[in-house]
Amino acid sequence: MAGRIPQNFIDEVLRRTDIVDLIGNYVRLKKAGKNYSACCPFHHEKTPSFSVNRDKQFYHCFGCGASGNALSFVMHYEHREFMDALESLANKAGLALPENSQQQEQVSRKPLYDILEEAAVFFEQQLQQSPQRDKAQAYLNKRGLDSQTIKHWRVGYAPAGWDNLYKNFADNAEKVKLLQDVGLIVHNEQRDSYYDAMRDRVIFPIRDNRGRVIAFGGRVLDDSKPKYLNSPESPIFHKSEELYGFYESKQAKQTFNKVMVVEGYLDVIAVHQAGFPFAVATLGTATSSTHIERIFKSVPDVIFCFDGDNAGRKAAWRALESALPTLKEGVSAQFLFLPDDHDPDSLIKERGAESFADVLKEGLSLADFLFNHLSIDLRLDSLEGKSRLASLAKPLIEKVPVGVYRQLLWQRLSQLTGLDEQALKAAMPIKESAPPVNIEANPQHPPQSHTFAIPRREFIDPSVKPKNLAGRSSLSDKAIQLLLQKPEAAKSIDIQKYAELFAQEAPLLLEVIEFCLKQESCSTWALLGAWQGTAEGLHLQALAEDTGFLADLNAEAELSDIVNQLHIQRLKKALHHSPDLMTTIKLKKELAAATAALAKK
Ligand code: UTP
Ligand code: MN
Repeated sequence: MAGRIPQNFIDEVLRRTDIVDLIGNYVRLKKAGKNYSACCPFHHEKTPSFSVNRDKQFYHCFGCGASGNALSFVMHYEHREFMDALESLANKAGLALPENSQQQEQVSRKPLYDILEEAAVFFEQQLQQSPQRDKAQAYLNKRGLDSQTIKHWRVGYAPAGWDNLYKNFADNAEKVKLLQDVGLIVHNEQRDSYYDAMRDRVIFPIRDNRGRVIAFGGRVLDDSKPKYLNSPESPIFHKSEELYGFYESKQAKQTFNKVMVVEGYLDVIAVHQAGFPFAVATLGTATSSTHIERIFKSVPDVIFCFDGDNAGRKAAWRALESALPTLKEGVSAQFLFLPDDHDPDSLIKERGAESFADVLKEGLSLADFLFNHLSIDLRLDSLEGKSRLASLAKPLIEKVPVGVYRQLLWQRLSQLTGLDEQALKAAMPIKESAPPVNIEANPQHPPQSHTFAIPRREFIDPSVKPKNLAGRSSLSDKAIQLLLQKPEAAKSIDIQKYAELFAQEAPLLLEVIEFCLKQESCSTWALLGAWQGTAEGLHLQALAEDTGFLADLNAEAELSDIVNQLHIQRLKKALHHSPDLMTTIKLKKELAAATAALAKK
């Protein structure tokens, strides 16, 4: 197949694609040295053995051996054929497939479009003619779809029985094969018989940008499971890119300056029917960046509309995360939350279109939703709360492309934390990625993708609260408390002279001092933020909370005292383990001098 495409075109597509960005859209990647790692998407595993290398533009799994470049990733991950994967990457890279290959593709796909159209007509006819049409029509009626709506959306019915669709096409082997290709007919190998995938379901055709039927969704008429069946992926249907209702929204030219993403097929139809003909839905998948990019290619505004329950909030947060990399100048994203236990369909049915119009006015801007959500459970009047907000928001803001949007988010963060923007950006240099925080388990704590340039130990569950220290603080802790209050006091310490002492007696203090010295102007929150998410971070938090703020603190003098005491502490330990008399005498002398120096102050 590749023979039809010039190699230099393939090279150009790969050159314009960054494998880390690409795979990052599907899998949460964590920076690990020169590579990025994740749990392998191609086999089940609990510890990451999948690795992506930007320099080589290559991925490899040490567990299952899967490896390749961006193109093979898309083929493997999305089960796409070569041409298909290439076209998808080319589109993303702003390149069109070379002309003749495109024509050939169209020729080879035409039979698929044709058979889907024939199937759509069949289902539409069955809704009017099948002996079982009454129950299907009664169901649609109950769901509030009028006849015009049914026609407009080409809603159909797949009658009960094993093989109504198959029988209709049985005399044409070619069509039967195509119906298998698009997943509407299934071959039973054992009995060598065929049966329909959609049985006794109302059918919603899914149309592409140009109005061609590319797949179907089918809903049961009662409470049986699965509630919806969707066509499988095919060369012309990719769930992660398609939006149900997009074509129909586009048809309503007057309102096609925005798109509202709702959760289900019937929500889309109900919202359109109620006079808001700009609703779309993903097809049983989360909203992806590809979906949103697709929307922004056509309209500048997107409104995400979610159920007011916990699942809705989670879905909304995912949509926000997908939206961040797509935010460019001129676009806007809003988030709507419906009253408890309602989806758009049920809300409109129960309270009418006006009530829905009211809800529409109450959208949260993306920035509001982002900061509201991150601030849940945070006390923004406390230092710790501000520091936590800063470190949670920073990696998210950094997903937004450089531009006005990103700038606005920085400003908001600065307002909320009372910290100036430059300091926010500078004080927490990004060096490595933190492990993802599981959003399922911690809906309040969205994933953190970055941490800071300091030595890292183990990350801990972010919901763990700091321990109360009451009266147990060591010399090291006391020094850290001083530095938390007055980080610039670190400059008074002769780090060259004492590095070894600190390394032995107070390793965390050494890290804190080094961090303070590295920053141009260090602040308490920057210190807290830098260790955010680690056991040491909790300890620092506890120390910060334990400290009363002293107005006229002479931190430098106190630190100097502590250094002396640490010195004494070490001498005493050394004395305890002294191997010989000579050493003992030497150490005793030093100890006497140090004690005298301390007493003199
Ligand atoms: P919901 O279960 O929230 O139902 O599914 P709904 O849209 O409110 O459905 P109704 O009102 O009971 O008919 C939301 C969407 O998730 C996908 C479908 O796209 C559905 O519209 N879904 C749901 C599936 O793909 N399969 C399922 O079994 C259920
Ligand atoms: Mn519903």
